[in-house]
Amino acid sequence: QQPAKKRDFLGFRPLDAAKIIELFDFSLFIKGKRKENASEEPFLPLRQKTVAMIFSKPSLRTRVSFELGIHELGGYSINLDGKSIGMGSRESVEDIARLLSRYNDAIVARLHDHAVIETLAEHATIPVVNALTDLSHPCQVLADAFTLYEKKLWHDEIKIVFVGDGNNVANSWVELAGILPFHFVLACPEGYMPDERLLDEARAAGVSRIDITHDPKEAATDADVLYTDVWTSMGQEDEIEERVKIFSPFQINSTLLRLAKPSAVVMHCMPAHRGQEITAEVMDGAQSIVLDEAENRLHVQKALLVKLLSHDVYRKFHLTH
Ligand code: CP
Ligand code: NVA
Repeated sequence: QQPAKKRDFLGFRPLDAAKIIELFDFSLFIKGKRKENASEEPFLPLRQKTVAMIFSKPSLRTRVSFELGIHELGGYSINLDGKSIGMGSRESVEDIARLLSRYNDAIVARLHDHAVIETLAEHATIPVVNALTDLSHPCQVLADAFTLYEKKLWHDEIKIVFVGDGNNVANSWVELAGILPFHFVLACPEGYMPDERLLDEARAAGVSRIDITHDPKEAATDADVLYTDVWTSMGQEDEIEERVKIFSPFQINSTLLRLAKPSAVVMHCMPAHRGQEITAEVMDGAQSIVLDEAENRLHVQKALLVKLLSHDVYRKFHLTH
C-alpha cells in the first residue's frame, strides 16, 4: 500500500467549501476541548510529532499560536530564524526541505517570496504550512472566516469589505472568495490591487461576488464586516512615508463605520497602528472583534495541524459527530 500523499497548506486551493466548513466544525470542537477541565482524558493527537517553524519575518500571533497549539496537542516545535539557517544562502531551499523532512513531521514557514515556500513544499516529504508570505496569509483568513462562522454571522451574502492594501491578507480573502460563497469588496488605492492571478482565478470560479473599488465610502455602505490590515507590510518599511500619504483616505474610522450596517463588526489581522489604518476609537470600540480573531488563530491552526498530521483522528471526529 502506498503511503498517503502528504498535504500542504500554502493557500486555500486544495480545499473546497465543504472541507472548509468541516475544518471550522473541528475547530469548534478543538476550542471546546481547551476549556474542558484537566480531569478529562487529554487530547494529544500530535504526541511524538515535531514541527519545524521557520520565521524569516517578525511575528507575535503566528509564532505564539502555532507554538502553543503544537504543545497543547502533545507535539513539540522547533523555532528557526530564517536568517540564521540561511535559506538559499547557507544552503539551498531544496536541501533544507529534504533535511527537515528527515527530522520533523511538518514545516510551518513565514517567508518573503511565495515561490520559496512552493519550492520548500515541493522538496519536503512532510506537510508545509504557509504562515505568511509576500503573496498570502491563509492561516489568518481561515481564522477570520472561522470567527464569523463561530459568531453565526457567516452566510452566502455576507458583505465583507476590506479597506486598504491589496496585499497578502487581502489576497487570501480573494482566494477564499473563489471557494466559499460571500460578497467580497476591496477598497484599495490605485496601484495597490490584489494579485492578478489570484483575482482572475477567484472570479473565474464564479463562487462569490467580488468587487474592487477605489472609493472606501462606496465600499463600506451596508457592510457586514469592515476589515483592514497595516498600510506598510513587513519588508516595505522604506515606503512608509509614501504609503501613509496614499492610504490616508483608506482609514477605518467612525465616519466610515457609520456607513456600514448597525450590526457590522470590525476586524484587523494585527499588528494595528491606531491613527493610521484604523482609529483607536474603532479598534477598541464595541463593534471590534479583533481579539477574537487573534485568539482563533490558535484554535483553527490546531485543527489544521490535526487534519494534516493526524488525519485518522480528524476523520474519526467527522465520522462520529
Ligand atoms: N496577524 C499576524 O499574523 O500576526 P503576527 O505577524 O504577529 O504573527
Ligand atoms: N500585511 C501584513 C500582515 C501582518 C500580519 C504584513 O505582511 O506585514
